[in-house]
Amino acid sequence: MALLSSRGDWYIYFWLIYCKIYLAIVGVFSNHCRGTDKVHSVITAGVSVVQSPGGLHRVRTRRRRPLQQHRSKLVALARRPSLRRIVMAPGASAVHAMMEDKEKTLHRPLASVSMHTRRISQFAPLLIALVGLPARGKSQVAHRLSRHLNWNGESTKVFDCSEYRRRHLALYGRHDIFRADNQQGSAVRRQSAREAVQDAMLWLKEGNSVAIFDGTNITRDQRRELNEYCLSEMGFRILFIECVCEDQELLERNIIEILHYSADYKDMSEEEAVDDLRKKMEHYMRQYEPIDAELEDISFVRVENMGETVTAHKVAGQKEAGILGYMSGMRVMPQTLYFTRHGESEYNVVGRIGGDASLSARGQLYAQALAEHVNALAGRAPLCVWTSELQRTKQTAAGIRAPKRPLRALNELDAGICEGLTYEEMQERFPQEFAWRDQDKLRYRYPWGESYIDIMTRLRPVLSALEDEHGVVVVGHQAVLRCMLGYFLDAKLDELPYMTVPLHTIVKLTSCGYKYRVEMIKMPVDCVDTHRKQPMNCSITRSASDALVTVPSHYDTLPSNLWQNTEAQL
Ligand SMILES: *[C@@H]1O[C@H](CO)[C@@H](O)[C@H](O)[C@H]1NC(C)=O
Ligand SMILES: *[C@@H]1O[C@H](CO)[C@@H](O)[C@H](O)[C@H]1NC(C)=O
Repeated sequence: MALLSSRGDWYIYFWLIYCKIYLAIVGVFSNHCRGTDKVHSVITAGVSVVQSPGGLHRVRTRRRRPLQQHRSKLVALARRPSLRRIVMAPGASAVHAMMEDKEKTLHRPLASVSMHTRRISQFAPLLIALVGLPARGKSQVAHRLSRHLNWNGESTKVFDCSEYRRRHLALYGRHDIFRADNQQGSAVRRQSAREAVQDAMLWLKEGNSVAIFDGTNITRDQRRELNEYCLSEMGFRILFIECVCEDQELLERNIIEILHYSADYKDMSEEEAVDDLRKKMEHYMRQYEPIDAELEDISFVRVENMGETVTAHKVAGQKEAGILGYMSGMRVMPQTLYFTRHGESEYNVVGRIGGDASLSARGQLYAQALAEHVNALAGRAPLCVWTSELQRTKQTAAGIRAPKRPLRALNELDAGICEGLTYEEMQERFPQEFAWRDQDKLRYRYPWGESYIDIMTRLRPVLSALEDEHGVVVVGHQAVLRCMLGYFLDAKLDELPYMTVPLHTIVKLTSCGYKYRVEMIKMPVDCVDTHRKQPMNCSITRSASDALVTVPSHYDTLPSNLWQNTEAQL
């Protein structure tokens, strides 16, 4: 099909005539065939459709832009109009269309390319482009969205224009580079934007599903070009997200965050930095063009005051709907969260997994220590405690003076047929299951139980809620906390099941910019270690000793006076 586009003009005229005749015939029979109505709806002003006898629709784009006609290399092809696939012709020019010379843009009549006229598949990769002035929370939105989408199985990456700029200008220098009349500065910025878009497109072409373009300066013309380029040339979906912030208090907070965390300002004094950022914003403000639904034919979401008001225009598609839902519940504020596992349980002591055991004597001591620590914090800000529905977390949180909310979603990974067994018993009774688990702990699901992937799924609503909370103490379990901390710390999924979350340790997360800082506060109460590393040999034919080599030491029976027992007895 791709060859079609490289034939001479006569070929196109032939098709047009053929197509006219065909459409006339279709018109006659359209009463009998509802499906053809769909075909018509696909044919918009600039597109002609041909149906071959085999029922295959070929869509050949006829560009309205005379200047660019030689570039139209897009051929769409499908069995049904609703299930079209976009095929790129070989040698399709890569990435120059976007922010090229302005002159061309000016002489070109305004083309209206939208997802509706193009009918890009729901499943096509999606480019998200952020629009807005500095300090409006674009990077926050970009990175939170990326975290959320990655967790939901959409491989997502943020392409930050300012990082590309920093590569060109090793030193930030001053706000001057953002002046409209600074030739060199604007050349560098344009170059950086082009590179970021190129990399984003490459990322999508490689089969990833979402790229987030965090550009600083996207004018109306640039938006139109990016939109057109993405839809026509690449066959990708595109959604603009505009961040607006009228709330002065919020704006000031954002500015302070930028001054603290941005690489641009790490070598400047505070006054200098404030002054510089203010001037930079003035440069932008002079040139900023807000998105206007009347003037622009693009899909966009406008987020005001970091999620206070969210409006959507021409937003369609599964991914976009999910994004819209996520954005509309979003609140962005500095936050501190505390995570801890339950105190050592009776099952921990004897090396059993799962179950609903009570705390051991040492576990109770930890509960007291935790309560003291947290109650001291609570003097400063009101706290709230989330526990699982299992005894050991409720007992651990018992002494904390704060409202408590038991959540089923925080329950420990369900080990199915292995609930309540020790690793030794698992090896004896289900050696094959045990080996399979070691081969892929992330995806392995216990028979009648759960996998890490399963708990990631049930944790989604909890994590979304937690992102908007401040001062929550989560009392949870090993596997569940590995997932939760992995989410906030952007851990790789395959690393999740082996993250270290020791007993009797408070993990404090503090937001800084769009990242989190982590602090481990170890309480001085002894406990067993429950972390089992991946053994070398994960083969199902391995010997029992190979399988058990990394099992942490534990007691064989519950000692009657555990607290006096020391490690020596293990
Ligand atoms: C924004 O982009 C336009 C067009 O490329 C350019 O003329 C202008 O100088 C840019 N402004 C800033 C502040 O980057
Ligand atoms: C694992 O153990 C089996 C059986 O003892 C052996 O045949 C195999 O070579 C071992 N594999 C590794 C990677 O050590």
